[in-house]
Amino acid sequence: MATNTGKRVALVTGGGSGIGRATAVRFAELGYSCVVADIDESSAKETLRMLQTPGIAVQVDVTKATSVEAMVTAAVQHFGRIDCAFNGAGIAERATATIADTTEDEFDRVMGVNTKGVWLCLKYEIAQMLQQEPVMSDPAKWADKPDVCRFRGVRGSIVNASSIAAHYPTPMHAPYGASKWAVLGLTKTAAVEYAKEGIRVNAVSPGFVDTPMHHRNMEKLSPGEKEKTESWHPVGRIGAPEEVAEAVCWLCSDACPFTTGEHLKIAGGS
Ligand SMILES: NC(=O)c1ccc[n+]([C@@H]2O[C@H](COP(=O)([O-])OP(=O)(O)OC[C@H]3O[C@@H](n4cnc5c(N)ncnc54)[C@H](O)[C@@H]3O)[C@@H](O)[C@H]2O)c1
Repeated sequence: MATNTGKRVALVTGGGSGIGRATAVRFAELGYSCVVADIDESSAKETLRMLQTPGIAVQVDVTKATSVEAMVTAAVQHFGRIDCAFNGAGIAERATATIADTTEDEFDRVMGVNTKGVWLCLKYEIAQMLQQEPVMSDPAKWADKPDVCRFRGVRGSIVNASSIAAHYPTPMHAPYGASKWAVLGLTKTAAVEYAKEGIRVNAVSPGFVDTPMHHRNMEKLSPGEKEKTESWHPVGRIGAPEEVAEAVCWLCSDACPFTTGEHLKIAGGS
C-alpha cells in the first residue's frame, strides 16, 4: 500500500556510497522522499539513517532486470510514484590495463554495471513514469507563458552518471571510458524518445571526485601519477560529492523544464 507523503519522490541507485549517498542526502534536504538503492544493502540503510525525510532502503543489482524491476515496484508500492531518479551505481576496473591486456570478463563486468545497469534502470523507471500523471508545480509562475505552462507538466526526470571519461580518451581504462560514452548515448536517445511524454533525461559527467571509488582508483597509481591526477583539473583540486549532488538535484528539479538530453560536466574546468 503506497504512503502518500505529499512529497516528491526521488530514487537513487548507488545510494550507499560517494556521489549517490550525497545525492540522496541532498534530495532529502530539499524535501523529497527517498528510495536509496544499492547492491550493498547495509550501506543503503546507513544512508537512509542520514536522511530527515521518509525513505526506504532497497537492495538492487542493476545488472539484473528482475532486480531493477523489483526496485521500481518497491518504490511505487511504498510511495506511489517516482518523480526523479539518479542512476548513480557504477564501478571501475579492478586494475589498469591496455586494451590488449584487458580480459573479456573485466570488459563485461564494467559494461554490465555502468551501461547495461543504466539501460535497465531507464527501462523500468520510464515504464513507471509513463503511467504517472504529469505534475505541474508552481503553475502561477508560468501563467503568462502558455507554451511553457502547457509543456511544463513533467511525469518524471532522470539523471544518469556518466563521467569526464566520456569526454576524453581513457588510456588504460577502455571499458570504463566506453561504458560512460555509452551512458551519454542512452541519455540522449531516451531524452528524444520520451520528450513529448513529459520525461526529461540528462547526464552528469563528474571529474575526479573524493569518494571511495576515487580512493580505490588512486591506490592503483604510482605517487607521481597520483599527484598528476589530483592536480589535473584547472581549479587545482578534486571535487566533493556534494558538488555533483547539487547539479543532479538541479537537473531533476522544475528549475530547468527545457533541459533534456544534456550532459553537464562538473569537472573544475576540465
Ligand atoms: N568518484 C569519481 O571520481 C567519479 C568520477 C566520474 C564519474 N563517477 C561515477 O559516479 C558514480 C558514483 O561513483 P562514486 O565515486 O560515488 O563510487 P562509489 O564506489 O563510492 O559508489 C558506487 C556505489 O555503487 C554501488 N554499486 C556497484 N555495483 C552495483 C550494482 N551492480 N548494483 C547496484 N549498486 C551497485 C556500490 O555498492 C556503491 O555504493 C559512478 O557511476 C561513477 O562511475 C565517479
